[in-house]
Amino acid sequence: MHIDSAQQGSALRFFTESPYYYVYRLHLTFLAETSPRMEKYSIYAEKLRRLLGSRVPLLERTQRVGAALDGEASREVRRLLELNVLRGNGVFFTSSALREFALRGVEDSINSKSIIFDPTCGAGDLLIGATASLPIRTTFAQTLQSWSSVFSGLDLHSQFVNVCRRRLTLAAWQRHQFSGQLHTRIRDDWFEGIREGSGLTCCSNYHNATHILLNPPFVTQIAAENSSWGAGNVNSAAIFLETALSEAKAGTRIVAILPEVIRCGSRYKKFRRVVEISSSLNRLAPYGLFDCHTDVDVFVLDVTTSRVNLAAEPWDWAKPALAKKTVGDTFTVSVGPVVDFRDEKRGQWFPYLTVNSISPWEEAFDVPKRRRFTGRVVKSPFVVVRRTSRPGDRFRAVGSIIRGATEFAVDNHLIVCEPRDHTLRSCRELIEQFRNPGTTAYLDSAIRCRHLTVSSVNHIPWNHHG
Ligand SMILES: C[S@@+](CC[C@H](N)C(=O)[O-])C[C@H]1O[C@@H](n2cnc3c(N)ncnc32)[C@H](O)[C@@H]1O
Repeated sequence: MHIDSAQQGSALRFFTESPYYYVYRLHLTFLAETSPRMEKYSIYAEKLRRLLGSRVPLLERTQRVGAALDGEASREVRRLLELNVLRGNGVFFTSSALREFALRGVEDSINSKSIIFDPTCGAGDLLIGATASLPIRTTFAQTLQSWSSVFSGLDLHSQFVNVCRRRLTLAAWQRHQFSGQLHTRIRDDWFEGIREGSGLTCCSNYHNATHILLNPPFVTQIAAENSSWGAGNVNSAAIFLETALSEAKAGTRIVAILPEVIRCGSRYKKFRRVVEISSSLNRLAPYGLFDCHTDVDVFVLDVTTSRVNLAAEPWDWAKPALAKKTVGDTFTVSVGPVVDFRDEKRGQWFPYLTVNSISPWEEAFDVPKRRRFTGRVVKSPFVVVRRTSRPGDRFRAVGSIIRGATEFAVDNHLIVCEPRDHTLRSCRELIEQFRNPGTTAYLDSAIRCRHLTVSSVNHIPWNHHG
């Protein structure tokens, strides 16, 4: 098609006056500011490149590939990059447990003709989850070729793009390890559909996709001036989902991991209506804490896009949460308020509760230590839980009951659970709950790091007979 300069001029004017141009400019400024700070992640991309080309013994290689596909990319991002950079850019990669949960029920709709697009692909965790539903070919090279035509993705940062491509290659290698022909020259141009770019401006990927997998950044962003559902600061997750809904063709499956505020917050009521009128619901499932490094609760939304239907029936967005009773419904959970080295020893004397002053599962009336403290003290009866807790421990939540008629200063290495009905009976029920194997199984799947958080205790299912 021939385009003359007048047409080019008017196309450019059209672009520069459109809302996309505004987002595009923001994107360029953003990249200039943040890309250098992501540079250190290249170290991990390089490590994966060497692993792909290496001739390390098969067993060692198998283990290293397993680690690379299960949590290592996320651990490395936290090790190599500063926390404020991660938070500011919403860089939090999906855990294996969450991606499995998110893709539940989607597997059957994926085959080698699918076009699966992740507009904010990061290190590729959601895409890696989808590889499990794809067949492998006779040779490793054929599988790479076939999978390369299935997957597409975008991320603002080239370092993540490189890691994503290499991890997809490793996922194919892992599948070929026990079947098929492994030998092929590893080239860096597999998975060319995974590219550097913004998921808010490169829209052709949306049109072509059969599946869109989305775990967008959850950061504050200003809603578009002409937004039909929000004004001022909104969660960027809603903007990404809106883009996917409006740019995808009818019949596209969208699976999104989203912050709970979108499911429950009154500010997102109009946004929820936008989702209802432009798609049909396959599944809406609260998950709980995203992971133990980010104190954000998430849910999974699985929809199929449709033509806009203003008369669509409203969905019951709240229902799934009501079905499940958790520890947080019966207890107020908080971290012990005393930070010993920081808090001055002033004010009234209190019994001072630390990890070493009580035995596991004990019921204690008093503790030997005393401390002056001016902050919040906790009135008995209540339960304390040790924060240190490792996957594989016999009990993940180890508790003790504090009773008697006094107030305690509680150290911050303990989590405090105060019964809303103030009874000893509820405290004893909670201890039973902690000793229940179902609680340990739940925490093993929800919290893979070595300490419990307030959210993880809040979400322990109540009366779980596992
Ligand atoms: C929450 S992480 C999720 C990554 C991946 N989808 C996953 O599930 O692990 C969000 C990613 O979005 C990227 N990102 C932020 N803004 C973006 C944009 N406008 N376009 C594309 N990627 C973006 C970040 O660099 C980050 O890697």
